[in-house]
Amino acid sequence: MTNIPQTMILGTGRAVPEKILTNADLEKIVDTNDQWIVERSGIRERHVAEKGAPLSELAAEAARKAIEDAGLEAKDIDLIILATVTGDMKFPATACFIQELLGAKNAAAFDIAAACSGFIYGLQIADSMMRNQTYRHALVIGGDILTSIVDWEDRNTCVLFGDGAGAVVLGPSQDDRGIISTYIGSDGGYSKLLYNAGCGCINMPTEENIKEKIHTVRMEGKEVFRHAVVAMSKAMKKVLKQADMTSDQLDLVISHQANLRIIEALAKRLKLNSEQTYVNVDRFGNTSAASIPIALDEARRNGVIQSGSTIGLVAFGGGFTWASGIIRL
Ligand code: UT7
Repeated sequence: MTNIPQTMILGTGRAVPEKILTNADLEKIVDTNDQWIVERSGIRERHVAEKGAPLSELAAEAARKAIEDAGLEAKDIDLIILATVTGDMKFPATACFIQELLGAKNAAAFDIAAACSGFIYGLQIADSMMRNQTYRHALVIGGDILTSIVDWEDRNTCVLFGDGAGAVVLGPSQDDRGIISTYIGSDGGYSKLLYNAGCGCINMPTEENIKEKIHTVRMEGKEVFRHAVVAMSKAMKKVLKQADMTSDQLDLVISHQANLRIIEALAKRLKLNSEQTYVNVDRFGNTSAASIPIALDEARRNGVIQSGSTIGLVAFGGGFTWASGIIRL
């Protein structure tokens, strides 16, 4: 049997728009207040893109940093996977625009849609495609400009989201570092609890649909909250079992940054201490598919994790979808 190398992370990068929207700014837009937002979600501020700003540019910026960090050039990348639900256009895939911006002429590029779980879905797909030795250097990007599909009159949702992109470059590992285990799951029975019904083939952009704000995010927050905690804790336990590990062996768990109370409830279920739990939702809000790669890059660059650290990743999002993974950096 040939010895197929593990896939490892060679570099990471992130990019967020410059503009910051604070809770105080939101108080001027909808009937909300800083105290409610902080107590119920832990969010204090979020980065927001200018109206009409392309996700491809933000994602390409994150990707360039990841490629540089990996010590590679754009021409070395042979696969680009972008996880997003807010691409530049319906088609072509935003990954193709990113490919062009990077000059990554040797890559195959496509998008995947698994909402907030998308980045880990992308990791698993890239890992499988690399393990059959067809691809050598993959770029996996999670990026969303969720504020482009938010109803700014709906206080239940508009205070929660932020924009950004995070990227990793994957390559073959020479040692025990790499993607140890991944798991993805979904249940379409819950699709109506978190969705955006506009801009697909069933809801054309008619005057009436636009008036109904059909193109904006709808969410049953309480229900999503409940399912998120249960599904993420099960998903994390699943990859731990697959890897024959226990949660105390993880140096850090980066869970999807949607709500501080969800992160804390998950930590309790997984018996994680505060040093094993990463939190940046206070500064970024829920950046959807970007949340995990942004946190991963931030934790690496500020020294919370380093080469050899063992990290758990876990996410939950619309679909419902969920996903988890264990990587050794
Ligand atoms: O990324 C995918 C995963 N997404 C998530 O994980 C999000 C999951 N859900 C949540 O994070 C929480 O459910 C929310 C933060 C969205 C809401 O927190 P909650 O504790 O579930 O609040 P709620 O929706 O039950 O609302 C409680 C009250 C309501 O008032 P009444 O009906 O009790 O009078 C809301 O109208 O808070 C009110 N409310 C607000 N008040 C001030 C809702 N949004 C706001 C707001 N400011 N922005």
